[in-house]
This record gives sequence, C-alpha cells and structure tokens, in this order.
Amino acid sequence: MEPVNIGLLGLGTVGGGTVTVLTRNAVEIARRAGRGIRITHAAARSYDAERIEGLGEIARIGEDAFAVVDDPDVDIVVELIGGYSPARELVLRAIANGKHVVTANKALIALHGNEIFAAAQARGVTVAFEAAVAGGIPIIKALREGLAGNHIEWIAGIINGTGNFILTEMRDRGRDFADVLAEAQALGYAEADPTFDVEGIDAAHKLTILGSLAFGIPLQFDKTFTEGIGAIQAQDVAYAGALGYRIKHLGIARRAADGIELRVHPTLIPHRRLIANVDGVMNAVLVKGDAVGPTLYYGAGAGALPTASAVVADVVDVARVLTTDPTNRVPHLAFQPTELVDTPVLAIENVETAYYLRLTALDRPGVMAGIAGILGEEGISIEAIQQKEPAPGETHVPLIMLTHRVRESCMNRALARIEASGAVQGETVRIRMETLAG
Ligand code: HSE
Repeated sequence: MEPVNIGLLGLGTVGGGTVTVLTRNAVEIARRAGRGIRITHAAARSYDAERIEGLGEIARIGEDAFAVVDDPDVDIVVELIGGYSPARELVLRAIANGKHVVTANKALIALHGNEIFAAAQARGVTVAFEAAVAGGIPIIKALREGLAGNHIEWIAGIINGTGNFILTEMRDRGRDFADVLAEAQALGYAEADPTFDVEGIDAAHKLTILGSLAFGIPLQFDKTFTEGIGAIQAQDVAYAGALGYRIKHLGIARRAADGIELRVHPTLIPHRRLIANVDGVMNAVLVKGDAVGPTLYYGAGAGALPTASAVVADVVDVARVLTTDPTNRVPHLAFQPTELVDTPVLAIENVETAYYLRLTALDRPGVMAGIAGILGEEGISIEAIQQKEPAPGETHVPLIMLTHRVRESCMNRALARIEASGAVQGETVRIRMETLAG
C-alpha cells in the first residue's frame, strides 16, 4: 500500500519531537499502521536543524503553512504551531480541502472545537487531538474508548506540568516562585505565555475538553471556572501538610445533581491519595466511572518526545481509518454528534466543596465563638480547627479551619459576615478541598 503523506505545521519543541519519533520508530509504526508514514511537506518560520533527528528525510520544508494545507499530495495535516490564529484558519482550510487533521492545540480545541468538529463531520474527515490534553498520557483514548461502557461521575487531573512543578518545588525546597517558573520555561514545559500555566488557563483548556468527553456536552471554555496558583503561600502549604493534605492545582469535572461542574483551582487533597504524590512536571488524571471505579492515568504531560508520542499515535489511528466510512469512526467528543446534551455547566457559586480556611483572628475571648456562630448560621459544619500561638506582641493569631462540604454561595456569605464583624484582620485565605474518595 502507498505510504501516507503528512504535512507538518511547526518544527518547534513538539514538531521536532514528532519528526524524531516518526523517523526513529518508522518500521514499527508502519507495521502498526499497515503502511508507511512519511512527512512530505513541512512549514516553519524557523527551526534548529541540528536538534531535529530525521529532518533530512522531509522532502520539502518551506515557510508557508497554507501551502502545506493546500498541497494535493498531503493526506493528513499535523498542526503543531499552537495558538488560536492562524491555527484555526489553517485547520478549517485543511478540512475544507478534505484532509484529516492531527493537532496538539488545546486552546484551539477548547475554544473553536465545536466549529472545527462540525466542519470535519460535514466533510467526512477526522480531527484527532490526543496530544492536546496531558501530553503523552493517552487520556482521550481512555475516555472515548476504554471507558465507553461507564457513566462517568467525575474527573480530577493534574493537567499542567509547570504549575505542578512550581507547587512541588515550593513544598519540597522552599524555592522562589519566579525561579522555579524560569526553570520550567528553560526545560520547554511552560506555555509561550507562562501566565497561561500560572493562572490556570492552560489547565482550563484541557479540562474543558475532558468535561465534554466525559459528559457528552459541547465544549464550553467560557463556563469553566479558573483560579491560578499565584496566591498560594508557603504557610498554607505547611499548614495543609500538618493536617495531612497536599495542595495541588486540579482540574475537576463532576456530574452534580443540578448540572456539571467544570473548575480549575488549587485544591487540598489527602496526602495518601496516589494523585497527591504526583510531583514535578508529571501529569495525572483520575477518572471515576460507575462500573470500573477510580482509574488513574499518569505520565509526562509536556515535552518534545512525550507529546510527539500522542501526536504519532493519532497519526497511526487516522492512517488506519482513512478508508472507513466516516459514520463508523470514533466520534470527536466521544458521544455521537447528534447525542450531545445541553446539561448546564454550574456557576462556581452553585458548586459544593469542602474548604480550608485561614483567618487572622483577634486574640480575645469570644472571638472564636462568634466566628463559629456565623459559620453555623450559614449551615457550614466545621471538620477540624487549629489555633496557632500568637507571636510575641501580636494581637491576632492564625486560625486554621477545615469545613465539611457546603455550597460556595453560603461560604461567600459567611466570610463576608466574618470579615465585616471586626473579628479578623484582612481577607480570609480559602482553598477548596476534595477527598477524591473512590
Ligand atoms: N505548559 C503545559 C504544561 C505544556 O506545563 O503542562 C503542555 O500542555
């Protein structure tokens, strides 16, 4: 059988890794795909020829990405330039030209996936995006195929390696935030705009995709609640540790009684959970299905070769289905396009979680009783409480509380009342908490 021709957009970290993997493992890949796979045309504005193993095998390398998507000899376009534009225009043009697409672009899929999948469906082509979530971990394959018999209850994932690396280094070595971020950038893990990592936007892109795959809803990035790790303080990491918890930046998608929760925020989780021990740049996704129970997927979430591993797996998948009837392919969002539902995504005020609270309370008789009274009136039950010794000469003391689950709107009301009562100094630190029990 004739080899499959790939048009490659981008020769950066992941593009270079993809060339290397396709070259290095060419024989095994062909044995799996049933035919050879070769890159016939690539486009990149600049690249490091010395660094990319196998670059010499590519017949044509230019600067014009549109020339690649318009090249009649290209069967599959692999988009690895990232960002919203011109990636969106390139992918839509490739689809219009009847080409299949493989992309690692989470921002593109999270924001424009509904439009892209509709166009692909109408043209009878596939858009594969395994590398868009958690790099080398085949989580999309697991959700779409391996867990297809389950009713998915919730997903909790560490899906940004840079954020996890920063939190791990802060906990283990007391390192400075900026210093750790610079190291992640040097290692090629951080986004072009590292605020996407630190503010949780990158994780929210990935969680939006996971939520749609789990619950069969259209992609809704704008409804995903996003809070970054910039406000996490060393003392909260230490207090959480003393109480038996770790702080992780989690993406959580959960089916609740009145809708679907899609939220990214720092979260206290019991230190004995396997996922609490996923450190450094590694990613992990915990999926709870009703039949299978909890399952955990762990691996490298970024980097040249791990991400290329997912890209090439998609290329092999597409090469295998090139001749099949489009209606018999695995649907883009796991559920048949006509079967997507409009279950509402809940606003964060309507989400229920437990909380870690750190109040700076006035050290005077009756203050603790007053705070506990307000929490009780708002229906908030305290699970644990610790008051630290006041520093010499200090009028206020740190008061650490863990609460049972409560609706966020009740917590907002209670904290506003406590802060207005004069019993505490400054704003209360609050970090959501999950048990992630199977
Ligand atoms: N910036 C991302 C991370 C890269 O740190 O996980 C992979 O999407």
